[in-house]
Amino acid sequence: MKVLVIGSGAREHALCRSLSLDPDVTELHCAPGNAGIAEVAALHTVDALDGEAVAALATRLGAELVVVGPEAPLVAGVADAVRAAGIPCFGPSREAARLEGSKAFAKDVMAAAGVPTARSYVCTTPQEIDEALDAFGPPYVVKDDGLAAGKGVVVTPDLDTARQHALACERVVIEEFLDGPEVSLFAVTDGRTVVPLQPAQDFKRALDNDEGPNTGGMGAYSPLPWADPKLVEEVLATVLQPTVDELRRRGTPFSGLLYAGLAITSRGVRVIEFNARFGDPETQVVLARLRTPLAGLLLASANGSLDLVPPLKWRDEAAVTVVVASHNYPGTPRTGDPIEGLDEIAAEDAPHAYVLHAGTKRDGAAVVSAGGRVLSVTATGAGLAAARERAYRAVARIRLDGSQYRTDIAAKAAAEAQ
Ligand code: AMP
Ligand code: GLY
Repeated sequence: MKVLVIGSGAREHALCRSLSLDPDVTELHCAPGNAGIAEVAALHTVDALDGEAVAALATRLGAELVVVGPEAPLVAGVADAVRAAGIPCFGPSREAARLEGSKAFAKDVMAAAGVPTARSYVCTTPQEIDEALDAFGPPYVVKDDGLAAGKGVVVTPDLDTARQHALACERVVIEEFLDGPEVSLFAVTDGRTVVPLQPAQDFKRALDNDEGPNTGGMGAYSPLPWADPKLVEEVLATVLQPTVDELRRRGTPFSGLLYAGLAITSRGVRVIEFNARFGDPETQVVLARLRTPLAGLLLASANGSLDLVPPLKWRDEAAVTVVVASHNYPGTPRTGDPIEGLDEIAAEDAPHAYVLHAGTKRDGAAVVSAGGRVLSVTATGAGLAAARERAYRAVARIRLDGSQYRTDIAAKAAAEAQ
């Protein structure tokens, strides 16, 4: 099978790595890709937001499956354009991707499907905003309705900060604060059958002990030894299947990756948000544990034949990923710095630890930083403690001027599991 992956982050490197290990994949292409993906896939230049351009590239390459990684192309309708060209595509239509693209739409779908989530108001006027903030009280949760690359959500005890953010949004969702640990659960679906993957947890804050500003994600681990063993089954029955059924009922079936961001509250599981694509950095650890070859699974989603796919197989190992970020991330990051130590990891730590590239590019013989999150160092081990140790041993070999990483990824879960 000839596969084309769209995107350029560590998530796409993780997807390409798994696809490159799949014996059914005969040719692997990625656009635009990065320096690490170039080692496993042929790179192509494309405007990932331009559906016609992506479809033309896929046609020229003879791709038999296109996998769209990030949300922006999905919300822009890239999957629709690929399907219109007659090529199977993993990823939801523009209409179905509104589950991620509009918080208000997601709330409406959840209400119709009876999916447990935070109580909320959608507000467009200052008066509505004040009433909603007053109704819930602190801590305030204020969400820009549209896609905001992780910057649209403000959670604050301060009324004035909450009001300012709400007033700056055209349409805003104000909701009840959900207490409790967060879990990311992914499911592959064809619009009817829903196949959940294994849960993971990510670390959104920049600094140790969940301090500092929000980021795109500084690390992740899977499995979650502290979680109820019935969690996946429960979320499938109460969240994932009803949501997929509701979107099909509306005539806009969701196929691709449905990502439920969940809070495990004292009153039960609640949806914090839906995403319409694999999450980053959780994908890095979930795919590290998946034994089932990836291409057939994604193709079955694209073709509507997931009911025929045998139960997924998982490695009996834990996985941890640690993100190495640029100087000043999540502010405007410094880029263009050379990255050293990658060869040492390949020589000393592989195959249990390996580096997935996010913002990197080649500059002659060197690999240099090209974004905020630069590398996602991933490792597997018999348990979380072993996986952590391998991940951090590899991280220590990386030399990137001014770079930063969290030192406590999976630390608490590993300690509790001992
Ligand atoms: P989102 O973009 O919806 O994932 O929100 C970003 C982050 O804000 C989440 O991962 C949570 O940590 C936090 N958050 C969002 N909604 C709530 C809520 N209702 N209660 C508490 N925290 C929330
Ligand atoms: N891990 C958070 C995200 O992908 O949105």
